[in-house]
Amino acid sequence: MVNRTATRCDLMLFGALGDLAQRKLFPALYQLERAGLLAPGSRILAIARTEAGTDKVKEQLLEKLRKHVKSEEFDPDIAQAFLQRVEYQRLDFNDPEGYQALRDWRDEPDNQLIVYMATPPSMYGVIARNLEATRCCNERTRVVVEKPIGHDLETSRVINDELGQVYNENQIFRIDHYLGKETVQNLIALRFANNLFASQWDQNHISHVEITVAESVGIEGRWGYFDKAGQIRDMIQNHLLQLLCLIAMDPPADLSADSIRDEKVKVLKALKQITPELMGSHVVRGQYTAGTSGGQPVPGYLEEEGANKGSETETFVALKAEIDNWRWSGVPFYIRTGKRLPEKLSQIIIHFKPAPHYIFDPDQKHLANNKLIIRLQPDEGMSLKILTKDQGLDKGMRLRQGPLELTFSETFETDRIPDAYERLLWEVMKGNQYLFVRRDEVEYAWRWVDQVIANWHDSGEPPKRYAAGTWGPVASIAMITRDGRSWYEDA
Ligand code: BG6
Repeated sequence: MVNRTATRCDLMLFGALGDLAQRKLFPALYQLERAGLLAPGSRILAIARTEAGTDKVKEQLLEKLRKHVKSEEFDPDIAQAFLQRVEYQRLDFNDPEGYQALRDWRDEPDNQLIVYMATPPSMYGVIARNLEATRCCNERTRVVVEKPIGHDLETSRVINDELGQVYNENQIFRIDHYLGKETVQNLIALRFANNLFASQWDQNHISHVEITVAESVGIEGRWGYFDKAGQIRDMIQNHLLQLLCLIAMDPPADLSADSIRDEKVKVLKALKQITPELMGSHVVRGQYTAGTSGGQPVPGYLEEEGANKGSETETFVALKAEIDNWRWSGVPFYIRTGKRLPEKLSQIIIHFKPAPHYIFDPDQKHLANNKLIIRLQPDEGMSLKILTKDQGLDKGMRLRQGPLELTFSETFETDRIPDAYERLLWEVMKGNQYLFVRRDEVEYAWRWVDQVIANWHDSGEPPKRYAAGTWGPVASIAMITRDGRSWYEDA
C-alpha cells in the first residue's frame, strides 16, 4: 500500500530551467501527479535567472515533459493539471531584494515549504542566507541539495557549514540519486529481511565483492564540469561508496534515517587508507580514446566538444577497497566505473567462498563458488548462481551452474519501476531522510577519496588510455587477475 501521507507542499525549485530540473525533476513531479501523490493545493515555484513569463515557461515545460516522459505514460490532461500548480519567478540568486517575491508567493504558510537547489553548489550558501534574511524559511523548511557537495573534504565542509548556519541537519536532504533507485533500496530488503543471507554475509563465507557501474555514454556536453571532477569525484565519492556501504554495513537497529546512516558511517570510517605504496596494486585510472559505441565511431575524451587537449582527467577508475573490520577483514571490494564502456550496466556481485571440502570432478572445481548477482540497471533483478547435477544418464555427477532468477518486472509483473527522483521527491515530501546522505557520510567519503587523488597528483602519472567501447585499461584486468580473480563479464 502506498502511504499517501505527504502533506500540501510549496516547492521552490531553484535552477528550474536547468538540465537536471527539466530532464529529471519536472518529469518526476509529473509522475507523482499521475500517481495521485501530490496533495491538492501543493504548488511549485519554478525559479531561474532567465527573464520569462509563467505562460512561456509552462509551454517550455510541457514540451520537455513530452520529450522526457515515455509516450505511453504521458497524458496531456494530467500534464495540464500538473502545470496548473506551477508559477515562474525570475530571480538573481545573489540579489537579496528579489527574494521578497518568493515570500509574497508563500501565501499559504501552512503548506510544507521545500526548497530544492538544483544549482551549482557555490549558490547553496547565498540562497540559504537570502531565504533566511527574507524570512522565507523556518525550522520546518526542508532543503534539498544535489551533489557534488564540494570538490574535496575542505570545500565540502564550507558548503555544509553554510547550509548548517541556516538549517539543522534534520532539515537538509542531500541527494545521491542512486539511493532512490528501487534496486538499491532492495539491498536493504535483501540483506535484512532474509536470514538466509544474514548468516552468510561476512569474511567466513564471502571471498570478494565486485561493484561495477558502467556507462556507455561519454561526457554528453558536460566537459566543463566533468573535467574538474573526473570519475572519482563524479561517481566513486558518492554513488559507488554508497553502494559499498549498503553491502558492507552492519544491520541497523531499525529503518530510521539515523540508524541506517550510523551504520554506513562506520563502514566509511573503516575503509583502509590507500597509501602511495598501495596505489600500483589497488588503483587504476583511465581515460578513453576514440573507439566505438553502439557500433558507431565516437571521439576520444580529448576530442570531445570543448575539450582541453592536455587534460589528464580520468573517465575510468578501478579500485580495490578494503574494509578494516571484523566482518570484512580480508575481503576485497573491487569497484570500477567508467564512461564509454561497452554497455550501461550497474551490478554488484557477491562471490561466496567454495564449500570447505570439494568431492566432485577436480576439473570442475572452478565452478564451486556461489555468486549472487544483483542487477541495479538495466533489467533490475537478482540471480543466485548455484550448482546442480547435470541432467542425463551419461552425465554422472557432473556439475552445472545455473541461476535462481528473480527479474522484478517479470516476477512481480510491475508495469514500471519509478525513477530515482520520483522516490526521492516523494520521501522529501514525507520528511523521511533515510534515503539522503548525512553530513558525516559526505565528509568521510571525501576523506578517503582525497588521499587517492593526492597520491595521483604526487605520482604525476597520467591516466592509462582505453579505447571507447572497451572495459577500461588492461591494467584494470591485471589488478584483479593478480589476485587470481576476474571481473564477472570476463569470467
Ligand atoms: C551522475 C553523474 O551523478 O550520475 C553522471 O554526475 C552520471 O556523470 C550519472 O552519468 C549516472 O546516473 P545513472 O542513474 O544514469 O546511472
